[in-house]
Amino acid sequence: MVDVDKVLDDAGLSNEAVRDYVKHWAEHLQPDRIEVVSAADDSRLIEEALAAGEIQPAGEGLYYSRSYSKDTARSEERTIVATSREEDKGVYNNWRHSDEIRPIVEGHMKGAFAGKTMYVIPYLMAPPGSPSEKYAAGVEITDNRTVCLHMIRMARVGIDLINNLAEPDHFVRAVHVTGDLPNLGQGTPEDKRYFVTVADERTILHFGSSYGGNALLGKIAHGLRQAAYDGWRSREFLSEQFMLLGIKDKETGKQWHVCGGFPSASGKTNLAMTLAPDALGDRYHVSFYGDDIAWLWVDPDSGELMGLNPENGVFGVAKDTNEKTNPTALDSIAPGSQALFTNVAYNDQTHEVWWEGKTPERPADTAGWIDWKGERIADRSPDEAGDPWAHPNSRFTTSLANVPNVAADYNDPKGVRIDAIIFGGRTRDREPLVRAITDLAEGVYDGLTLGAEATFAAEGVEGKLRYDPMSMRPFMSYAEGPYAQHWLDIVGAAKHQPIFAHVNWFQRDAGDGHFLWPGYRENLRALLWLCQFKDGEVTGRQTAVGVIPTEDELGMEGLDLPQADLDRILDIDIERWREEMGHRQEHLEQFPNLPEEIWVAHRRVAEALDQA
Ligand code: GDP
Ligand code: PGA
Ligand code: MN
Ligand code: MN
Repeated sequence: MVDVDKVLDDAGLSNEAVRDYVKHWAEHLQPDRIEVVSAADDSRLIEEALAAGEIQPAGEGLYYSRSYSKDTARSEERTIVATSREEDKGVYNNWRHSDEIRPIVEGHMKGAFAGKTMYVIPYLMAPPGSPSEKYAAGVEITDNRTVCLHMIRMARVGIDLINNLAEPDHFVRAVHVTGDLPNLGQGTPEDKRYFVTVADERTILHFGSSYGGNALLGKIAHGLRQAAYDGWRSREFLSEQFMLLGIKDKETGKQWHVCGGFPSASGKTNLAMTLAPDALGDRYHVSFYGDDIAWLWVDPDSGELMGLNPENGVFGVAKDTNEKTNPTALDSIAPGSQALFTNVAYNDQTHEVWWEGKTPERPADTAGWIDWKGERIADRSPDEAGDPWAHPNSRFTTSLANVPNVAADYNDPKGVRIDAIIFGGRTRDREPLVRAITDLAEGVYDGLTLGAEATFAAEGVEGKLRYDPMSMRPFMSYAEGPYAQHWLDIVGAAKHQPIFAHVNWFQRDAGDGHFLWPGYRENLRALLWLCQFKDGEVTGRQTAVGVIPTEDELGMEGLDLPQADLDRILDIDIERWREEMGHRQEHLEQFPNLPEEIWVAHRRVAEALDQA
């Protein structure tokens, strides 16, 4: 048995509550060794991981790793929110009583670290000194060195952060056990994986994965699920799956901050990293704050709605990332950035990485190339020849500091004032490019009825339309009725109301299926219109479902779209919308205690469509 006190003394970990937590879990998990991790340990951990074959070199200061082939996405069916309060049960949070589920997961974890090292990762989700710092501290325990490397990039990691907490006992207890991946029955009735957040005990217990979305507990389990629960119970803040960006008009000096939710793999990272399209010259500067999580609150002094990104890094989808779609992303994973690549294709002779869409063609010479399953491309049978080389959910991981357009004040604990909140997803028809909504309840209603096609970031059917309230469906930690009320309460308390909008970069031609809008960096045009609309510089065209830009207002210089495509994305299909309202009604009826304001907004939209 490891002498835990000695390890913690040597590491300088003095927080007594954290020490007790580590001792408790060391007893349960029975590791051979314990190590406390700080960001300063990164280069040593990299060397050890290289030596152990857990990662491979992928160019100067770049690394490649592969997760087990049945472990490449978040598993929503195996994700559970547990509390001791029946009223926390919602439609999407897979609620279970903690008394029932906790012993099951703990049973799986018992003795699981035998022969292994237990890494203890003290972290902060949020810049130190932020108003929500109280909810930001956590300590992840893991048996996986690659998880340590990811956490160092994605969170602020260090012993000092946890030694000096204002409330030493107020930290999230986050336990991650990889498990015996080939023998967990992933996706079968005998599935042994459990991803549990015991929200009212601020404890996260994840068993059976080493994929980032399941294993980096600071990110999704704490930063989203736990934080959403904490923000609601304290009545202090919202935690949402939102990107956050700043736009500056260098000519007028005006500045806006826009945040918003799109389901996983629907464009948050690309949008936040976008630079103004070349055609607009360099009049606008877009700055990056965050690409996956935003915490929102009202500043008690100024009364303004504020937001910040609790993360310290980017866990981005690799597919289709290239010079044209996202040059900023490529810069942020350039040689020397210490970026990690997961489940991309890898060449073990040249140490290159590749993914679909990185270049128009696959590398011509297959020598040395290995696909995301670890199989040699050269050994593929003819019927496997067309299969992707990289997993569609393959990822890059890099620190915010590497992002070339990261905002100068991204580390400012005060956050930034939020001017606009947008929702969007992959919707092949019905949803126009952008429709602005000025009313709070209608904006919240719009978020609650966000419907999008499923993507590959979670296990499930790609292409099937499903509702995903505010893009939070996989991260909901309490019931949807109170969630809607909490939104109305927090945003409603702000001195200046943000504008809302629904955007859609993914409308397709009914015939050949091409995207009607070029997307990526051109998306800024829709956001610029929204900011101008908010400031009263353009008026748009009122429709039953919001205000849509006219062609002139959208600003099409340097962009050559077929007129028919442009007409489609700047119009609404009344018939399809009327049909949609019935589905929305059913969707909302699932949620008991939905605030009356939301129903009023729903009926108002339905009536406007009837009269259109
Ligand atoms: P996130 O998971 O929400 O952060 O989404 P990403 O920004 O990583 O994008 C997910 C996938 O959608 C990637 O394969 C992108 O290349 C693609 N994507 C992102 N933005 C756009 C867009 O505006 N148009 C199109 N057609 N694809 C996009
Ligand atoms: P994404 O982030 O939204 O960029 O895909 C990771 C996730 O949600 O799993
Ligand atoms: Mn996400
Ligand atoms: Mn992303």
